[in-house]
Amino acid sequence: MSAPKGRTTDRIVYDLTGIEHQYDTLLGELPGTHIRFALKACPVDEVLRCLAERGAGFDAASPAEIAQALDAGAHPDRIHYGNTIKSDHDIAEAHRLGVRTFATDSVEDVTAIAAHAPRARVFCRLATSGEGALWGLNRKFGCAPDDAVRVLEAARAAGLVPAGLSVHVGSQQMTGEAWQQALDTLAGTLTALAGRGIVIDHVNLGGGLPALGYLDRHGTPLEPPLDKIFTVLREGMERLSAQAAAPLDFVLEPGRHLVADHGVIRARVVRLTERAQPGGGRTRWLYLSVGKFNGLYEMDQVTHPLVFPGRETEEHVPAVVAGPTCDSDDAYGDGRYPVRVPRSVRSGDPVRILSAGAYATSYTTQGFNGIRPLPCVCTRGEEGSPGRTALT
Ligand SMILES: Cc1ncc(COP(=O)(O)O)c(C=O)c1O
Repeated sequence: MSAPKGRTTDRIVYDLTGIEHQYDTLLGELPGTHIRFALKACPVDEVLRCLAERGAGFDAASPAEIAQALDAGAHPDRIHYGNTIKSDHDIAEAHRLGVRTFATDSVEDVTAIAAHAPRARVFCRLATSGEGALWGLNRKFGCAPDDAVRVLEAARAAGLVPAGLSVHVGSQQMTGEAWQQALDTLAGTLTALAGRGIVIDHVNLGGGLPALGYLDRHGTPLEPPLDKIFTVLREGMERLSAQAAAPLDFVLEPGRHLVADHGVIRARVVRLTERAQPGGGRTRWLYLSVGKFNGLYEMDQVTHPLVFPGRETEEHVPAVVAGPTCDSDDAYGDGRYPVRVPRSVRSGDPVRILSAGAYATSYTTQGFNGIRPLPCVCTRGEEGSPGRTALT
């Protein structure tokens, strides 16, 4: 398949310096925690290597991700199998690769882990409501506190180590209250477990920490209350530690928060058009060379800031921004919400798509409409600098 005309210079650029800075800042805010990067958010070898060198471990969702984390230099002790959904073969393969800590949320999964990864450590994922998050991650994962007690009792009976509890409050969680609720659930479950003689050694607070650079559908910054979220987490960890019968470690599984604001997509304008719409009125559409199927999978939920180099001071007009494919999902905000773009943009003009580093390389199609995955480039030094405006 040859690259379609006009897309040859498109690429996604990661700023390794920015990612390292983000990692250090997170550890500074939540000292003593163990960070296990959810590598599904950015399975790019250079990014994984740079985080592993910094001391990060990895939350892996499959044997293939475990192998990639090992290749990046992570010790198996710093990798856990964080997916509650896994076949017998997946469990055996993870065990063969040296992983000894597994997420679970059902007695059936515990039975399989005991059979294929004997004596492993398991942590049980508690359900959360998903409220306050852009992607709730509820229903499919996690169990109620009573079930968590049953699951960890079953693990103990099967010769496994009932080692921990976990939560995930939903991705791009926008409220401190969601973590507060999750921490309250953890505290109650810890008490119930103690009543059954189960003393866990760690609590995994999951992912969900937000990116800072997204816009809402109308182009207004989302502004998640990150300071408040960190305060809630610090106080919650202190409370759980005080309550626990033995020392508790705290694990975090950030994905988006570490990489989103340090990935920029370099794309091109395909065309700015204006047409009458079925409901009446005329709408401008700005088509870009990159969209939902080749890097901006989340564009229906979040708006990534756009920079049109050299055209910043020109007159701007409202336009619905969309990708290049013949699929109507391939648009910001489902194609309903215009944002402001320079009136004079022409086909072939460069555009930088900011805060595009999370889930971009992993959620990309292989050949939809003849579009190949974006080449990925990692930089640092002259081009790289901390902050989401890097590489613009
Ligand atoms: C188990 C688990 N941990 C962590 C993450 C990362 O979440 P986020 O990117 O919101 O930090 C995910 C994302 O789906 C997940 O499923």
